[in-house]
Amino acid sequence: MMIVLGLETSCDETAASVYDGKKVLSDIVSSQTDIHNKYGGIVPELAARRHLETIVPVVHEALEGSGVTLNDIEGIAVTQGPGLIGALLVGISFAKSVSYAKKLPLIGVNHIEGHVTAILLEEEVEFPYLGLIVSGGHTSLYIVNGIGSYRHLGSTRDDAAGEALDKAGKLLGLGYPAGAIIDRLAKEADPKAIKFPRALIPGAPYDFSFSGLKTFLVNLVHREGKEFAEKNLKEIAAGYLEAVVDMLVDKTLKAARENHLGTIVLAGGVAANSRLRQKMRETAAEYGIRVAYPSTSLCTDNASMIAHLGHRYLEMGKRSGLDMNGIPDWPLPQ
Ligand code: KG4
Ligand code: ZN
Repeated sequence: MMIVLGLETSCDETAASVYDGKKVLSDIVSSQTDIHNKYGGIVPELAARRHLETIVPVVHEALEGSGVTLNDIEGIAVTQGPGLIGALLVGISFAKSVSYAKKLPLIGVNHIEGHVTAILLEEEVEFPYLGLIVSGGHTSLYIVNGIGSYRHLGSTRDDAAGEALDKAGKLLGLGYPAGAIIDRLAKEADPKAIKFPRALIPGAPYDFSFSGLKTFLVNLVHREGKEFAEKNLKEIAAGYLEAVVDMLVDKTLKAARENHLGTIVLAGGVAANSRLRQKMRETAAEYGIRVAYPSTSLCTDNASMIAHLGHRYLEMGKRSGLDMNGIPDWPLPQ
């Protein structure tokens, strides 16, 4: 069993992890939300610069916490894409330098593939399973036939689910990112108090759309006024989140049933959402379908999912060259 150092810098988290093929020995995440918060979204240039400052201390901390040294590391896995190109290149350049200096095998892995297989670090799930990837940048359904073998069923036509929550949060003055705040607020109100629309996309049963929901919220706040929005903040959060969750649950269950899949795996930052987890489980149970999701720190961006997936590929004999480049837009291998 190889000891692998995993690196993740695709967006606004600088992360490093040490994984020995059985256990995560350490997992460090340094979040940049403090620098992006005031802009209401990620500023790519600032993200790349912060990764550059943070990557060395984050890797040091990961090695210290793991009980192994750089000399014990036997392979390097790094997020190659999709993501912000400037941010990706920091992790990739660092990984290449270590690989070159220490003569270690290197593997570039797909961030989305990392998310959809992260569950395997915590529990056994039989292939094939249905993966719902819901994050700040992605909302997609894939049949996971095995490591490296995926079938795309559908994706969002506009905003990602996390983006829809973050944009609502910005409008409501909740700061960035807002998903976890909306999660908390929604628990304290009736989701039916204010009704929000659910999008139907004729002819595309597994695609999602969240832009109409966002426009509905914009119009509601303009029509009723800021005071109304402040007074009914919890009800708005609950109703809006419920609409996002309903659209995700409906399409995911339709996909699972029509493709005869007995397990649904939730992945990505929005998979940390308590209402989504609860409603998906309750609804799936009616059809005898199991729902699995990783613990919260494995749902949001992390390097353990990269180390885990990289470990599997390295053990299969796959390698990336030192000419590896970042791939900002990289679909999963079919
Ligand atoms: O996977 P992730 O950490 O980064 C991307 O690859 O995008 O996902 C970040 C997204 C953000 O939109 C954030 O608002 C959302 O995940 N998020 C949540 C929760 N925690 C994070 N959304 C809903 N409920 C949560 N508890
Ligand atoms: Zn992610």
